This record gives sequence, C-alpha cells and structure tokens, in this order.
Amino acid sequence: MTSVFAADPTITPAWGELTSLREASRTVSVRDLLDADPARCNEFTVTAAGISLDISRQRVDSNILGALQSLAAQQRVLEHRDAMLAGEHVNTTEDRAVLHTALRLPPGSSLLTGGRDVAADVAEVLGRMSAWAEDVRTGGWRGTTGARISDIVNIGIGGSDLGPAMAYLALRHYSDRAINCHFVSNVDPTDLTEVLRPLDPATTLFIIASKTFTTQETMTNASAARDWLVRSHAEAAVSRHFVAVSTNAELVTAFGIDPANMFGFWDWVGGRYSMESAIGLSTMVAIGPEHFRSMLDGFHAMDVHFATADPSDNLPVLMGLVAVWNRDFLDIPTTAVLPYSQYLARFPAYLQQLTMESNGKSVRADGSPSSCPTGAIVWGEPGTNGQHSFYQLLHQGTSIVACDVIVVARTPNPLGRQQDMLVANALAQASVLARGRTANEVRADGTPEELVAHKVMPGDRPTSVLMVEELNPYTLGALVALYEHSVFVQGAVWGINSFDQWGVELGKKVALGILDAIETGRPTAVSDPASVRSIERYLALR
Ligand code: F6P
Repeated sequence: MTSVFAADPTITPAWGELTSLREASRTVSVRDLLDADPARCNEFTVTAAGISLDISRQRVDSNILGALQSLAAQQRVLEHRDAMLAGEHVNTTEDRAVLHTALRLPPGSSLLTGGRDVAADVAEVLGRMSAWAEDVRTGGWRGTTGARISDIVNIGIGGSDLGPAMAYLALRHYSDRAINCHFVSNVDPTDLTEVLRPLDPATTLFIIASKTFTTQETMTNASAARDWLVRSHAEAAVSRHFVAVSTNAELVTAFGIDPANMFGFWDWVGGRYSMESAIGLSTMVAIGPEHFRSMLDGFHAMDVHFATADPSDNLPVLMGLVAVWNRDFLDIPTTAVLPYSQYLARFPAYLQQLTMESNGKSVRADGSPSSCPTGAIVWGEPGTNGQHSFYQLLHQGTSIVACDVIVVARTPNPLGRQQDMLVANALAQASVLARGRTANEVRADGTPEELVAHKVMPGDRPTSVLMVEELNPYTLGALVALYEHSVFVQGAVWGINSFDQWGVELGKKVALGILDAIETGRPTAVSDPASVRSIERYLALR
C-alpha cells in the first residue's frame, strides 16, 4: 500500500471542527447567507479553463470552507494528487498507476514512469488515430465494395461506451454530418438489432471498444455484428469493416481483427477515465483530429489548474470538498446534475459511472470499513425537461438533493428567444432551490390560507451553478476533467481507492452460472433458491 492513502477522516481534528460548524450552521439558511453578504456571490465563484463554478448557493461559509481545506490538508489530498500525477501506483488493489492526465499532455511532452515515456506512447497512438480518422472522413478508407463509410457503430459498454456516446452528442455541432455514429452497449439483442436495421453493411464500420476485450456484452455484440456483415459479404470483408480499441492485442487478433487496425491504450487508463484515449476513436472520426486535440487541450488546462492552483481557488478541490460537506455533514445522499443544454443530455449518465463506480465504496484503501458515508448517488436530466418531472421533489420533497446546474451561455442554434428562456429557467431554478419561498411571501401573493402550506418552498437546497461560454471540444474536456478531479478529491478525503471496481465483478460471474442453468435447462444447478424459482419461471415463459 502506498503511504499517500489517508486514514479515517472522522478522527481528524478538522472533522471535529466541521461537526461543530454543522451544528452552528443549522439555524442559518442559504437565503440568510446570500442576503447578509452581497459580495458572497463574487467571493464564492472561481473560474478556470473557461468554466466558472459558483458555490454561493451552497450551505457553506468561509469558516466551513476553511475547515474543509484543513480536512483536505490533514488527509494529504494534495500529496495524493501529486502521487497520482507522477505515476505512482495509487490504484493499489490493482497495483496500477492512474495516468489519464498523461493522455492529454501537450504534443512534445514527456512523462517517464516505470522506465517508459508514456507521453511518447500516447503521441504515437494519437498519430495513428488521427491518420485513420482522417482517412475515414475523407473517403480514403472504404468498405469492401469500395463504398464510402457512412455509419460507424461503436460496440462497447461502461467506460468504452458512455464517454464516446456522451461526447458524440455533446459535440454534434462540430461533427461531420456525412458520417453517423451509433453506440451499441446492451447485451439485449434489441440494441444491436435496432441500430443495424437501417444500416448497409457495405458502408458500416464497427469499432469494437473494450479495454479487456473479454467483456461479455461487447464480445457477444461484436460476434453478432461480424455475422451480420459476413451474411452479405465474405469473411475477408471483416478487415475493412472492423477495427478495435483495446489493451489486449492477443484477443483482438484472435477475434480476427488485423492488429494494424487496433488502437491501443494502457492499464493505467481506467475505463471510466478513457474517453480521450483511443476509446474516443468514434469522437475523433466525428469531430476530426483538430477538434479532438482541442478537447485534449481543455482537459489539460483543467489538469494544470488542479495541479497548480492554490486549494482555495482550485475548482476541483472546492467542488470535491463541497461534495464531502453535503454527503457527510448535511447527510445528503444524492446529487442531481442538471445541464441546461440538450447537447449534454448524456452527461448525467456519463457522470454516474465516473462518480459512482469510483467512489461507491465502503472500505478504505487499507481494507478497513469506512466510518462515514462516501460517494453520492448521481442522477439527472437536462433542463428544462426535468422541471416538468422530478423538480417537484427537489423543491418540496422530504429528501434534500444537492444540485449542479450547468449553464451554457451561447448556443450554436439560436432560435428566437429560446436560448434566453433556457438560461432564465436555469437561473430561476437555482434561485428557488436556494432561497425558497416563505409562508409570509406566499400570503403576500394573496394565496388563500388553506393553500399557504402547500405553496411554501423550503429552499436551502445546496446548489452549484457551473457556467461556460459555449460548449465546444475545449470546454467539454475541461468540464469532464473538473468532475474527474472532484471525484478524486472526494476519494482522497475518504481514503478510498477511486480507481478499482470490485463491486461489479460478482454479478458477472453469477450471470455465467445462471446462463449455464438456463441453457442446459437445469435451474437447480444454481444454489440460490430464489434464483432457481426465477429461472423456472423464465423457462416457462420464454
Ligand atoms: O463492468 C465494469 C467495467 O469493468 C467498467 O469499469 C468498464 O468501463 C466496463 O466494464 C467495460 O470494460 P471493457 O472496456 O474492458 O470492455
């Protein structure tokens, strides 16, 4: 175990101080805080890499922020950050470095770790990706009949799907409309079937994206896709219609994909931290190598900020510490991510894996049980749609939900007043979530007394507002890096390993046993009586 991992945060002096501050703050509302200090909104807004983070609507004051910074210092968060950035094996349970930041170093950089210049390795793959993507975009790379590629199907799941799928939508404005990208992830046969239904095998190219090249869903869909192609073209067509993105050259070759058409990455890139590695190949085909470089630059700008800015002005540090405050001291178990941008419709789903697979842990890195709640449940939908479904609970429900409202100032698709209406809604929701509406204010509107209680809005919902000028490759990179590093800060405070995911393994193994019981028609081959009954019912119904 590397020594950078912190012990139990709850035994630090800062934790005790924060507990006292929480008691003292119970009688002070966000509205009180906002009204008492007109300068608060400026003081509690920090900007970096084109993103501003306004935490003035959070239930924190400068004493609380100071104590949170002490907690970070006592948990050696910055030392842990430096260890990660230097390539130490901070993913201790898998004995791996965690170097997604190396993926976005500027051209010409060098980063030596384990006797290798990983930046040079990254540059080599990026060069191959760029040449290939350009070839596909310009029609140099053609299908087996000589037809141009019109559709790319990325087959992958988890980190090999969510990042590329999110980025494809987020950067649609920058993409080549002559090539459509599709994403197949689910082993549900409907996913592949419906995606392939309108496509022509002669103009379709598959990217099989899997770090391990063993993931059941991906390999099953990849085989079915190959069968689909081979049904109308000869086996020899596979090499013109399949490329792979993986760390496992052996299995890629065994699948029948020419290693020359494999784009590699490394064990030090976690699946959920991989969208800017070769896993982003579909993104690069869609937006082109130059825009992809700009996305990497945005990531890197946030990396540099995280690595060098003073903790008090450091966006990921502040965001991460506020998340710890909300989770551990205000007992808020969930965070809603509310992007006011249709382009960011898949961003909450992307963040679910990033945050929940990283920090959904209940033991610390040394194997001891965590003595405080860790990673929050993350969910969300784009505004304004969410306002007409779940915001009722956000405003008046008995569960308090922390909210990240994401505002994009400029749209590439202006349409009458619609962009101003969108942003007005975002800011209105942030205001109402934070300030609420008192009974007296409701009465002052002339509301009948019997309805007053129904119309009171408690407010005090901790809300951050993130704002970017426009959504482009650069700001998307910076935004993702901000959340990545915030997740890191939270994990470092809690002393957990944010880079493993042992919790997903058992289900995969049990599924294999159940599949065998289904396929052999022997439900009793599994030992769990509830599963036996369910298998019997399924066999009777299917
Ligand atoms: O099931 C979890 C997981 O291991 C994720 O961490 C990962 O992103 C996903 O599966 C896909 O893995 P692979 O890229 O190896 O197919």
